[in-house]
Amino acid sequence: MMEQLRETAAFLKEKTGMQPEIGIILGSGLGGLVDEIRISHALAYGDIPNFLSSTVEGHAGKLIFGELGGKQVVAMQGRFHYYEGYPMQKVSFPVRIMKLLGIHTLLLSNAAGGLNPAFEVGDLMIIRDHINMFPENPLRGPNVEELGPRFPEMSETYSRSLIGKAKRIAEENRIRFQTGVYVGSPGPTLETPAEYRMFRILGADSTGMSTVPEVIVARHAGIRCFGISVITNLTDPSEMEKPTTHEEVQNVAGKAAKKMTVIFKKLIQEM
Ligand code: HPA
Repeated sequence: MMEQLRETAAFLKEKTGMQPEIGIILGSGLGGLVDEIRISHALAYGDIPNFLSSTVEGHAGKLIFGELGGKQVVAMQGRFHYYEGYPMQKVSFPVRIMKLLGIHTLLLSNAAGGLNPAFEVGDLMIIRDHINMFPENPLRGPNVEELGPRFPEMSETYSRSLIGKAKRIAEENRIRFQTGVYVGSPGPTLETPAEYRMFRILGADSTGMSTVPEVIVARHAGIRCFGISVITNLTDPSEMEKPTTHEEVQNVAGKAAKKMTVIFKKLIQEM
């Protein structure tokens, strides 16, 4: 794997000449942030050695290099999911590439179901912590000491300092936000009402099918993480009776992406 990582990182360095400080991973329907980046290179995943092409609709599948908030950034427009059939090492491969390119901070976003009954559709939830419900850990197997320690410490998985800054930025810009725990599970099925209830009992506020593998690999590599869930649907049994149209969801995601973009951009400006 180190060989593949080195090959891909060398290819990207040579191709872009960029030294990004910050990595960004954009979730389903949340690619709008890319419009704010002064793009110098946009590479289709299929054109990058050892990368996989993203198979999900609403995921563009491009690695973007450019400038945002005065910093060099590398952004994934579309990510790889475990449910697509990729092994965990592949799902999290781009995070390791970002590390080799030099990032110190990773900002992630995801579309998620809202488990907390106080949440509304379109809310942003700043991720305070996560629960890993994937059947596998991306660090399972022989540890590559060069990448990080055998037993990574997870007490501050999401940077308290970035969470604090993001809350202040949201307040200053009158953006409604929640804070909570994200539970990542394999999908591709959404949860049954009983499963949603179980996740709530376990202490989670939002649920989705991504983020956790990427964050685990990032923390292993000592990368500082910050994440936001965009609440696209509510999971309370009474709410689940109301049909949600695709149009509504798109609309909500689009609007929420704008709010999320403000937070990401200003957070980067302040780094
Ligand atoms: N469950 C899992 N993943 C999701 C959901 C959900 O309710 N909404 C958006 N992604």
